[in-house]
Amino acid sequence: MSGWAAPAWGLFLLLNLAACGEQKPAYPARQPPAGALTDVAQIAAGQALFREKCAVCHGHADEGRSPRADFFQPPAPDFTAAGYRTLDPAYLFWRIEVGKSVEPYLSRGSVMPAWRGLSDEQIWQLVAYLKSRAR
Ligand code: HEC
Repeated sequence: MSGWAAPAWGLFLLLNLAACGEQKPAYPARQPPAGALTDVAQIAAGQALFREKCAVCHGHADEGRSPRADFFQPPAPDFTAAGYRTLDPAYLFWRIEVGKSVEPYLSRGSVMPAWRGLSDEQIWQLVAYLKSRAR
């Protein structure tokens, strides 16, 4: 490597790390089972789970959203936001699994539960539903 390239490369790495810190922390790469995210039965199963376990915080008023959810800081995101259509399914899986139990969510005061009691199949059903909920 020539004289100037090494420091430039170091700076490049540093800037990249700083940029990542603003975005999402590292999470495990995972592949959904083939077809799981578009299968209507999986999406319907995910919707039932969402109504039962998630709508109290992430849902709309007619889905049983709690009035307390308006005061969460950070707020529970609304999964109808378009960005969720393209968000990495592996990230959604990981967040459902770990909730607020990892940084930076822990120090931010998140109230998102960790859903470790759900099976991988159930978590993929939820991911499939969240993807279908995005407008
Ligand atoms: C007690 C309220 C509460 C419940 C119940 C809850 N969540 Fe959350 N959730 C939150 C809050 C608050 C956040 C935002 C803070 C954070 O990212 O940790 C969040 C964040 C998330 C995120 C990360 C979104 C992003 O853009 O990074 C996902 C995915 C998620 N929740 C899915 C679910 C699913 C699926 C369920 C049901 C199985 C659920 N949540 C149940 C409060 C809740």
